[in-house]
Amino acid sequence: MCGIFGYIGRRPEAVKLVVDGLKLLDYRGYDSAGYVALSEGKFISVKKVGKVAELEASLSDLLTPSNIAIAHTRWATHGKPTEINAHPHFDDQSSLTVVHNGIIENHDAIREMLQKKGIIFSSETDSEVIPQLIGYYYKGDLLKAVQKAVGKLKGAFAIVLMHKNHPDELICVARECPLAIGIGKEEMFIASDAHAFLTHTKKVIYLHSSEIAVIKRETIEAFDGNAVPITKESEDLDIDVEKISKGHFPHYMLKEIYEQPQSVSNALLSRYSDEYGTAILDELGMTDEELYKIQRIIILGCGTSFHAGLLGGYMLEERARIPVQVEISSEFRYKNPIIQENTLAIAISQSGETADTIAAMRELREKGAKIIGICNVQGSTLAREANASLFLRAGPEIGVASTKAFTSQLILLALITLRFARMRTMSQKEGKDFINALTCLPTQIRSILDHADLIEKIANKYASYENFFFLGRRFMYPTAMEGALKLKEIAYVNANAYPAGEMKHGPIALVDDKCIIVAFCSDSVTYPKILNDLMELKARNGKIIAIAPEGSRELFSIADDIIIIPRTIDELTPLLAALPAQHFAYCVAKKRGTEIDKPRNLAKSVTVG
Ligand code: F6R
Repeated sequence: MCGIFGYIGRRPEAVKLVVDGLKLLDYRGYDSAGYVALSEGKFISVKKVGKVAELEASLSDLLTPSNIAIAHTRWATHGKPTEINAHPHFDDQSSLTVVHNGIIENHDAIREMLQKKGIIFSSETDSEVIPQLIGYYYKGDLLKAVQKAVGKLKGAFAIVLMHKNHPDELICVARECPLAIGIGKEEMFIASDAHAFLTHTKKVIYLHSSEIAVIKRETIEAFDGNAVPITKESEDLDIDVEKISKGHFPHYMLKEIYEQPQSVSNALLSRYSDEYGTAILDELGMTDEELYKIQRIIILGCGTSFHAGLLGGYMLEERARIPVQVEISSEFRYKNPIIQENTLAIAISQSGETADTIAAMRELREKGAKIIGICNVQGSTLAREANASLFLRAGPEIGVASTKAFTSQLILLALITLRFARMRTMSQKEGKDFINALTCLPTQIRSILDHADLIEKIANKYASYENFFFLGRRFMYPTAMEGALKLKEIAYVNANAYPAGEMKHGPIALVDDKCIIVAFCSDSVTYPKILNDLMELKARNGKIIAIAPEGSRELFSIADDIIIIPRTIDELTPLLAALPAQHFAYCVAKKRGTEIDKPRNLAKSVTVG
């Protein structure tokens, strides 16, 4: 949700560096993009509506030489995506400039106060109050002005700013929005996601909790939210540079779909014991006794992470017999939840920055729950604030539609289930069988991907239809929700997900020969039931695509098309069924010519609640 990139250092090509860095962040928002560089005491700024590519196209070969610049790619919240509303923003003297990610909740009051003092605003954004307020407080000491202004701002934000009178420093602030500083040789990089400066340096520090840093080419001076100087330790990033390129794939989404045999293996690596038939989750930092005491689990997430959470709930209740409550974070945080003793919360977020999930997690922590994060990004807010985190180890997920993160989340939830179940209800033999099923997954995923041509053929056949139902029962219902979400977000097709048994309670009225039903039929317990549901829909001329395990002969006379997936245990079949659903959505989107990696109106990381 908005991407920030900044540079200060020995090289004179700051503009190129920040625009290149921004390109790696444009999945965070792509309504407009802009940069500003300081050159010979003057600000040189360019802003464009649309993606960073538009900004890049406007750059000439003779770029202004500068060794300090900041850039921004915007996901619009306040104000339309126009050039005027694009960042960077300036104070009314054009002395200082700011890029901002987040929302300033009290922007109206600040704007009104400043306008009364005669300050003139140029945009409709909440962000513009930041440079205007700092400019208003500035009396020669920039850090002091920033500290004073930040004290007045309400909301969540990451800010980078530059002032004409201080040409050798950038000032950064991070409150509840991510900001990473990369430390190079006589140069520093600032980015919303650390991987954006990975080609330059792997040495990083993260700012958070209202920390402020004054960044010069060779030094970082950091302060906490009370202006007390602090020491920030750097860490080494553990990401490969090649993992952030598309390689030979036309889209990140396709690359990430194909990475799943590897990402699933990574999620499993050293996290189970064949011998004891259990999961080894040392990262939880909890003793057996503490785990045994857990009486109730709350799982939180948004979007795809919520769907993974729903499946985690089914797994844990089925196998470990612990009551589980699965909640959409944006609703849960306003519910005034009742937390009993011995409640464990599991917060799931690929990015680790989703504002609603972070807020819900904080609410739970205040009420005494212990929090485990399931997350893909080390150093993220979720990873820092949870009591312990299990990392997906999936590598950066760049495509806006989540794919590999979903399957890795399921692996971690399956491992948590195994750990809890083995302490309660599951025998060692059953534990070993569970592990066997888990370790077969990478090969099974590969075999699904080997038949991607068939999925593409089916997707092409139905790509022009406008109404889809995605149906499933039990473990297949959240899987259907995830499949429908993929189709909606990247192909812009109306896809409703329902538990198949609900169709006759209303939605069946919509079924006719223009309606496509994608039926997830891999749940063994409800398989006979879904066959009946599908017969009822076929009788109303609905066209049926079934995703079903090998040997599902009954479906041949019911479905118009069948995608066969390998058999596994019910708990893990959502993971295998997700693969054709992801690839189907990808192929429909490709056929319809939509923007696959950066769908309209979306952003990868939703840091506003
Ligand atoms: C869908 C998708 C979103 C995210 C959601 C939560 O493909 O990517 O629905 O799952 O915005 O994001 P995280 O997992 O980063 O909290």
